Amino acid sequence: MGERAMNNPVQVIAFACSPRVHGNTDTLLEHAIAGAEEAGARVERFDLRAMTITGCRHCGGCIGGAGRCVIEDDMQRLYDPLRTADRVIIASPLFFMGLTAQAKTMIDRCQPLWAIRHLGRSVSRASRERAGLFLSVGGADFDDMFGGARRVLRAWYWTLEIFERREVTRGCVDAKGAISDHPDALAEARDAGRSLVQWREG
Ligand SMILES: Cc1cc2nc3c(=O)[nH]c(=O)nc-3n(C[C@H](O)[C@H](O)[C@H](O)COP(=O)(O)O)c2cc1C
Repeated sequence: MGERAMNNPVQVIAFACSPRVHGNTDTLLEHAIAGAEEAGARVERFDLRAMTITGCRHCGGCIGGAGRCVIEDDMQRLYDPLRTADRVIIASPLFFMGLTAQAKTMIDRCQPLWAIRHLGRSVSRASRERAGLFLSVGGADFDDMFGGARRVLRAWYWTLEIFERREVTRGCVDAKGAISDHPDALAEARDAGRSLVQWREG
C-alpha cells in the first residue's frame, strides 16, 4: 500500500440493491467489500431495502434549488457520500432486464447531482479520480443480458463523474444461494474490489 493510501485511505461506498437479504448479489458484494478492505479502503455500505427512498417527482426543485432535493427522506444521507467517495460499488440483480426498483429509485434521485453538472459545476468532491464497480446476476443466460442495466449505469456514472467502470456479472444464477456454485465469480468479485481500490494508487 502506498504512503498516500495509508494516510488518506480510499473511501468506498457500496450499495446493496436487492430486496433479498443475503441473496446472490449481497454475497458478491460481501466479497468485493472484503477485497476493498484488504487493499486498505474504508468502506461504507448502504442496504437500500432498509432505507426509505421515494421516487423522483420531477418537481424541478433541484434545478431551482441549485442541486438540493426537496424530498426529506433517507436519500438525503446519500448525497454527501455520493459526492465524496473515491469508489462506488453497486450490487443489483437483473429485474425485468434492468436494475431493481431500489437501485433505480436511488439513481433517479441523483437528479440533483445531474442538475449540478447541468449548471456547469463539478459533482465530485473526491480527492482522487473516481471508479465504479457493478456486481450483478440474473437467472437467464444470453448475450448482452446486462445491456439495459449498463446503459442506466453509464448515465449515472457520467453524472457522478465516474469514467473508470468495471463489472462482475453472471447469468444462470437464480435461486437464493446459487452464487455459491460459482466460486470463480466470488473470487472475481474479491479481486475486483481489491483492484478497484488499488487503481492509480501505486
Ligand atoms: C421481479 C423479478 C424480475 C426478474 N427479472 C429477471 C430478468 O429480467 N432477467 C434475469 O436474468 N433474471 C431475472 N430475475 C431473476 C433474478 O435476477 C435472480 O433470481 C437473482 O439471482 C436474484 O439476485 P439476489 O439473490 O441478489 O436478489 C428476476 C427476479 C425477480 C424477482
